Amino acid sequence: MRRLMVDLGERSYPILIGSGLLLQTQELGAALPQSKHPRVAIVSNETVAPLYLAALQASLTSVGADNTPLILADGEQHKTWESINAIHGAMLTARCDRNTTVIALGGGVIGDLAGFAAATYQRGVAFIQIPTTLLSQVDSSVGGKTGINHARGKNMIGAFWQPKLVLADTAVLQTLSAREFSSGLAEVIKYGLIRDLPFLEWLERNLDALMARDAEALAYAIERSCSNKAQVVADDEMETAKDGGRALLNLGHTFGHAIETGMGYGQWLHGEAVAAGTMMAAELSRRLGWIGEADVARIRAIYQRVSLPVLAPTLGASRYLELMSHDKKNIDGKLRLVLLRQVGDAVTFSDASQADLMATIETCCET
Ligand code: NAD
Ligand code: GLY
Repeated sequence: MRRLMVDLGERSYPILIGSGLLLQTQELGAALPQSKHPRVAIVSNETVAPLYLAALQASLTSVGADNTPLILADGEQHKTWESINAIHGAMLTARCDRNTTVIALGGGVIGDLAGFAAATYQRGVAFIQIPTTLLSQVDSSVGGKTGINHARGKNMIGAFWQPKLVLADTAVLQTLSAREFSSGLAEVIKYGLIRDLPFLEWLERNLDALMARDAEALAYAIERSCSNKAQVVADDEMETAKDGGRALLNLGHTFGHAIETGMGYGQWLHGEAVAAGTMMAAELSRRLGWIGEADVARIRAIYQRVSLPVLAPTLGASRYLELMSHDKKNIDGKLRLVLLRQVGDAVTFSDASQADLMATIETCCET
């Protein structure tokens, strides 16, 4: 088992990475309130629950915890107030009190929903992340961003609410579809592009092993990704740094969120939108003279090797700009993008010209 810490003072918590951790009860038990029968509400969905709920329930029973499962419909389109209401309703019906711990068992959608429900139930109860997709194991389960989508924008409503524990069982990744697995790799590649060039080079050497879901390669990539994320979050938990900071984790996301919202939630997977969005960020960085055509081609080749899209859908440049104008990183109405000063070194940038933006969007969309 690999163990990392997210260093946030008294709210610090461990990330555990390893095969078979769902059945490993010691750390799970230690993260629950020390009462005779700790109370747990499990939030999962109709795809993940048939695969892994029984194992989690057995582990909870063996540490003496009472659990109430709530199984939501599957999909990004359910990251809504209705789902939050359903979680709260089930918790109230089960008479969950403030000592209850909410456990998210699922991908990023379940993690974001369960975390937001935990942040708001009776003004906040404890929360544990058990991420079951590659994307959620390397990104969304770490760092405490929780929330839901709004018709006008991705992740527009939410709260920072850190978990007590992140338990990433790498064995569960074997049941993930090829498309979802590739989507997760987009966030792995992101860490190399924004701040860890040696990791990007390691990825270029090991993409075939990762695509074959080689256990050792996967565990290393997850650990290195989480280590990068933990450092960024520890330095800028609430994303308040004026330049850089946690916002850098959003490389490709301003364009990507526009794709997800513009196409309708669930049409493009998050990682797919991030890959196409990162190609747009790379193209804009090239136009600014920061990186060269060879760098753009290098990034494109990485995505192509893992079956991720390198062209964005055609929504029209003005629709992209309208959608991007709602981005949470924007300050005083000014678009703030994450771009590449070099491959392996991202920066925030608020001075992109309208002409460069329009040309970038037009160059990077499907014809
Ligand atoms: P997801 O949660 O929709 O999961 C993808 C699909 O895989 C779903 O159909 C799910 O049911 C299924 N699945 C999950 N685990 C499985 C398993 N082990 N075997 C088989 N199927 C499984 O999507 P995701 O890619 O995990 O997460 C995307 C979401 O995460 C987006 O909403 C995005 O905004 C959010 N996100 C949040 C953060 C954050 O910091 N909070 C960061 C990145 C992304
Ligand atoms: N995934 C972006 C962040 O956690 O800040």
